[in-house]
Amino acid sequence: MKEQIQEILEEARRSIPSCESDKDLEELRIKYLGKKSSLSDLLSKIGTVLKEKRPQMGALLNKVKKEIAQLIEQKKLVLHEQADATKAQGLDVTMPGRPLPIGAKHPLYQIWEEIEDIFINLGFEVAEGPEIESEYYNFDALNTPSWHPARNPQDTFYLKGGMLLRTQTSPMQIRVMEKFKPPIKIISTGRCYRVDKVDPSHLPVFHQVEALMVGEGITMSDLKGALDSFVKRIFSADTRSRFRPHFFPFTEPSAEIDLLCISCKGKGCKLCKNSGWLEMGGAGMVDPAVLEEVGYDPEKYTGYAFGLGIERIAMLRYGISDIRKLVTNDLRILSQFQ
Ligand code: PHE
Repeated sequence: MKEQIQEILEEARRSIPSCESDKDLEELRIKYLGKKSSLSDLLSKIGTVLKEKRPQMGALLNKVKKEIAQLIEQKKLVLHEQADATKAQGLDVTMPGRPLPIGAKHPLYQIWEEIEDIFINLGFEVAEGPEIESEYYNFDALNTPSWHPARNPQDTFYLKGGMLLRTQTSPMQIRVMEKFKPPIKIISTGRCYRVDKVDPSHLPVFHQVEALMVGEGITMSDLKGALDSFVKRIFSADTRSRFRPHFFPFTEPSAEIDLLCISCKGKGCKLCKNSGWLEMGGAGMVDPAVLEEVGYDPEKYTGYAFGLGIERIAMLRYGISDIRKLVTNDLRILSQFQ
């Protein structure tokens, strides 16, 4: 009998740990410990054992039963732990979610929108126009003579049929004035194109913001006022601008716009190349020839216009000295400007 008991125990020690489900484990429990199990059978036959050996055999049977019951309990725990772990892999509502990278508007477009918002607050309307322009709108109507160097194919991208990629946002002056009567107070923003080699301060595709105001009694001080309101808002309240005499075919008088260097405030530094000033764009009073071209009476109406580079503004705001950083689409660079 002793050998039989020992054999049952050995078999249980092998089969219980390799069992794979609660159901199989329950079957094993019935097999080894149930009423019809071989151990129970042996227990009922204990009377056939020699009297002196009975207590010893009974104790052994109990010991073996106990061990098998323990093996089953242990295995049950292991199976439940494994089940919990697999469940957790699929769904654990207490686990923090995987972070998804969140995109953002391109820094240039963020500035573009900010610029438009400022002008809208100053009472300007936003007018958008075509990037593929005719020579008429981009040059002729803007009083640009046929010999003007800007018209050179080395500077302008020409397309078929007298069309070109606009070199400035100024053609929108004409498109708006053709359509509407004064008073006019608009900005035009968007992409412009010039045949330029890519370098730290040039891209063949860039963006401008152009302001145009036409009405009765508009003067150069209105121009200066609007420009200063804008630069103080986009940079800081202590930003100052100055005009330097210049020439544009469509404005008279014309000026180039400088800003007091936003970094050194005029003392001279690397950013302003020690001049204390930063070049920002062009401006002037709308040339009477342009007003006439769109059918406005230059005796009655005057106007101002100015144009600024959006990349230039973005570079100053983000403190970058290489314009190419704005177009490399390198997230490591772009995400610094958010
Ligand atoms: N269109 C000019 C340029 O691109 C800038 C400008 C705009 C000058 C409006 C005067 C008035 O250089």
